Amino acid sequence: MIIAVDGPTASGKGTIAKRLAVHFGVPHLDTGLLYRAVGRQVAINEGDPDNESDALAACAFSDDLLDDDILRSEEVGGLASRVSVHPAVREALFRRQRAFAEQPGGAVLDGRDIGTVIAPDADVKLFITASVHERARRRWLEMTASGFGREIEIPLDEIEKDIVARDARDIQRADAPLRAAPDALVIDTTAFDREQAFETVLEAVKEALQAG
Ligand code: DC
Repeated sequence: MIIAVDGPTASGKGTIAKRLAVHFGVPHLDTGLLYRAVGRQVAINEGDPDNESDALAACAFSDDLLDDDILRSEEVGGLASRVSVHPAVREALFRRQRAFAEQPGGAVLDGRDIGTVIAPDADVKLFITASVHERARRRWLEMTASGFGREIEIPLDEIEKDIVARDARDIQRADAPLRAAPDALVIDTTAFDREQAFETVLEAVKEALQAG
């Protein structure tokens, strides 16, 4: 059983995907983390994230990097969004994601193109979204809790601007842009707290699995 969870930045898709994986007893892959590792590796290499060869070279990051908390920072998120526009980078990361999706017993993957490119054969496809303002508010709370926001004191409106820029880049890129698959269940969590969002999604997934 493959569950694909796509959606824009800070939509809550990661938390939802993790909880779905626990609920169904299958492994979970946060595919954004792979792009974040590439973005971080470009910075370590002192390369240019907008240059396709520099970004491709950074795909040879060491798996230890995936455990580095710095990957969660806004700065690395921005680098990830920039390296992710290059087709060579997407191709380099494809096999790893596809192999994860195909493992026996199934998996939950979250990202931008899981339902459209990585696992178009997924049993359930979700597209989790929320308003820009609400996503900025959630990201700000998250950053404050993690310490990144506390130290840097990034104002909410700057986070909102950053989210708008990131959405635009993710939606407008030519290769595997962020969009809901035609058969995805689109769930807007703007008015929900974490618990309500998860319950709504879980019900929708159960219904889809029964119907499918
Ligand atoms: O979900 P996230 O914020 O960690 O993702 C960081 C960036 O990585 C995002 O702005 C676009 C890119 N990404 C992608 O292009 N495809 C994916 N499947 C996951 C992330």
